[in-house]
Amino acid sequence: TEKPAGLIMIFGATGDLAKRKLFPSLYRLYKKGNLSEQFAVVGVARRPLTNEEFQASVKTSVENAIEDHKDLDDFVSHFYYHSHDVTDSSSYQTLKGIASDLDRHYSLEGNRIFYLAMAPEFFGTIAEHLKTDGLTDVSGFKRLVIEKPFGHDLESAKELNERIRKAFSEDEIYRIDHYLGKEMVQNIEVIRFANAIFEPLWNNRYISNIQVTSSEVLGVEERGRYYETSGALRDMVQNHMLQMVALLAMEPPIRLNTDEIRSEKVKVLRAMRTIKGDEVKDAFVRGQYGAGEMDGNAVPAYRKETMVNPESNTETFVAGKLLIDNFRWAGVPFYIRTGKRMAAKSTKIVIQFKDIPMNLYYGTEQTLNPNLLVIHIQPEEGITLYLNAQKSGQNMEATPVKLNFANKGTAGMNTPEAYERLLYDCMRGDATNFTHWNEVALSWSFVDNISEVWENTKAENFPNYESGTMGPRGADLLLEKDGFFWWPVT
Ligand code: BG6
Repeated sequence: TEKPAGLIMIFGATGDLAKRKLFPSLYRLYKKGNLSEQFAVVGVARRPLTNEEFQASVKTSVENAIEDHKDLDDFVSHFYYHSHDVTDSSSYQTLKGIASDLDRHYSLEGNRIFYLAMAPEFFGTIAEHLKTDGLTDVSGFKRLVIEKPFGHDLESAKELNERIRKAFSEDEIYRIDHYLGKEMVQNIEVIRFANAIFEPLWNNRYISNIQVTSSEVLGVEERGRYYETSGALRDMVQNHMLQMVALLAMEPPIRLNTDEIRSEKVKVLRAMRTIKGDEVKDAFVRGQYGAGEMDGNAVPAYRKETMVNPESNTETFVAGKLLIDNFRWAGVPFYIRTGKRMAAKSTKIVIQFKDIPMNLYYGTEQTLNPNLLVIHIQPEEGITLYLNAQKSGQNMEATPVKLNFANKGTAGMNTPEAYERLLYDCMRGDATNFTHWNEVALSWSFVDNISEVWENTKAENFPNYESGTMGPRGADLLLEKDGFFWWPVT
């Protein structure tokens, strides 16, 4: 059904993600009538809180995120709290009791969603306890929603996967990649497969290169401890960037359902050319931000941030050139670029078409620009098609024109809307916009080859880009070598 009854158990209920994204998203679903009246939420975290205190904190989170608070009291009355010790069976037993009571009280039909929104080192432990302590013995469905990072490399991801698979089958596991919840990321498929004019051109005969940029303005903030073990490659490339590439490059699935879409994405990841050893320096560029000025304020270098090693070798920027060795894409570079403390907060995809076979407009003032299709993921949402056309009144002169389509602009980035969609999908049992284990495994094996080289060779030139810029010079050279440049995104 579209509105199944159920219990949502959130591990990490006092954390940032729960407060900023999950509670506001649940509230939106509730207000839209997309949440069954038969729902309850149990917040689970270490610190002691009463149900009332927890409900008050849920209320505050919603009020901070959303202006109109109709029925907020009614909404938070469905929230309960359990102060939990993740390694203690008796604590899970108590939780099981709470869950059974709520199941009866709200007629939840034995449906349960376990949402792990906390420190990843406990993901495996919790999943195992959920099973051994009987919380997964339910009469309805049981689902595990798991936040990133899903492992640190292929080996640890495998180990984690084996542990959670003891308690949940693959189709009960919903691995979050919040980029897959973004409106315009989901729109990639629609743009490609619902239009007659793009798909015939969507290949190496007509596309010269594809550029995917996800730049951020913020630095590492309070996440130094995690980020030092991660870096931009693991934090952004292994998941969000490769997911976008997979959606751009995949073959049309025979049906728009979970299995078919995922299997096409997996094929792209399998076709991605391995880059390892000496090849890494030719295809990938790493960067780390130095001090700079942003919006008129001086900001510190990455190495000066809290919980960061003053000689850190961690990359806060990555640019790379990916090649997909299949019939459709042979010879077409996919350039990706992401980093912190860059000039703008922006995620954009530029598809650059090949030049026309012969330019009849030489001698005019302007050189002919290639056709570009730009997919604006955030902060603007929409698409722009760059064409050449004749300026009115002037004969035979080609000028660039823009065809613009803007989706309703949403305020802010990483908005709860992505989480709202993903939560709703999970409740309805639609795993399409979550990553399958095969995708995770393939992306890790791709990324591991690069991390291996970077971890074993110190980046002598760090910091190599100033805060507030578009990254190190090397990222531009990566395209210049091939006769291209990054189309401006700001
Ligand atoms: C997260 C990363 O997955 O994505 C963060 O861990 C990053 O480091 C964030 O800031 C970016 O998400 P968005 O939606 O703001 O582009």
